[in-house]
Amino acid sequence: MVYGNELAGIARELVVKGKGILAADESSPTIQKRFDSIGVESTLENRRDYREMLFKTQGSKDFISGVILYDETVRQLGSDGELLIRTLQNQGVIPGIKVDKSTRPLAGSDGEVVTEGLDGLRQRLTEYRELGVKFTKWRAVISIGDCTPTMYCIRTNAQALARYAVLSQEAGLVPIVEPEVLIDGDHDIDRCFSVTELTLREVFYELSLQGVILEGMLLKPNMVISGKSAVNRAIARVVGEKTITCLKRVVPAAVPGIVFLSGGQGDDEALDNLNAINLVANAMGAPWELSFSFGRGLQTLPLKAWKGDASNLAVAQRVYYDRAKATGLARDGGRHS
Ligand code: 13P
Repeated sequence: MVYGNELAGIARELVVKGKGILAADESSPTIQKRFDSIGVESTLENRRDYREMLFKTQGSKDFISGVILYDETVRQLGSDGELLIRTLQNQGVIPGIKVDKSTRPLAGSDGEVVTEGLDGLRQRLTEYRELGVKFTKWRAVISIGDCTPTMYCIRTNAQALARYAVLSQEAGLVPIVEPEVLIDGDHDIDRCFSVTELTLREVFYELSLQGVILEGMLLKPNMVISGKSAVNRAIARVVGEKTITCLKRVVPAAVPGIVFLSGGQGDDEALDNLNAINLVANAMGAPWELSFSFGRGLQTLPLKAWKGDASNLAVAQRVYYDRAKATGLARDGGRHS
């Protein structure tokens, strides 16, 4: 692999102690949903103002190593006429990009989905590299139900994830491999454990089959947690123990870092669980950095503070700064709740 050492260096930089990743790569329908929640129209200008507010938050670079962008943002100018990607680079924040094209119904399955976006991916990756992007993300979605996930769904998504990852490395871009087992449902934590274990086992099998360099990638999984509507949801310490136990079974030590998604957990829940995972890892030992790549976990509070109103800019930036700092602390097991 031409870019082997470069990839490993970028991957390690993204999971440096005290820092993690901001996922600001919401697709147009998703950012629309987020803006609907604060009663703001999703226009090109509003999306720019919102994301610029995040990227220009003074001091956030102390806790944010990289930002995942959406295609629109990677070419977008800020209100000052500077490319937004340049604003990140100037602070030493590493720009990344979401390259999947979202999920579609999986043919032959009842209600499951497969992530699309492989067609033309090689060309898109070359262009992103020229634009200064250093890493990429692809999200596969696995849902837990009475009869799901099927092995067919897990395998189809794992194959696509590996296809994406090897193409990304070929273009000199670090892939963030994201197989998300959804939080939706009333299942208990042990069911999440077994589905996550099975999914990750299949993903790493495909990654090895397709020649992905483990040192030059990051894994972005769900935490092992109870379903959102389960009764007696497991507490943070149990989440920490089960998550580390599960990952140790299936994630090779050559992978430099694991960056958890927040996955619709409550504001405190996501940070308490990330903190507990790191405390357990510190006590038991773990071969990888255990960091974050949060979308909602970092953005829900500043979005509410911003409300689409320029006069709220300073307040929203303060809220985002505090949130990034708290997440950075949890990433090292140093959160006091
Ligand atoms: P959440 O942290 O909101 O789950 O988003 C992370 C992400 O990038 C999903 O692809």
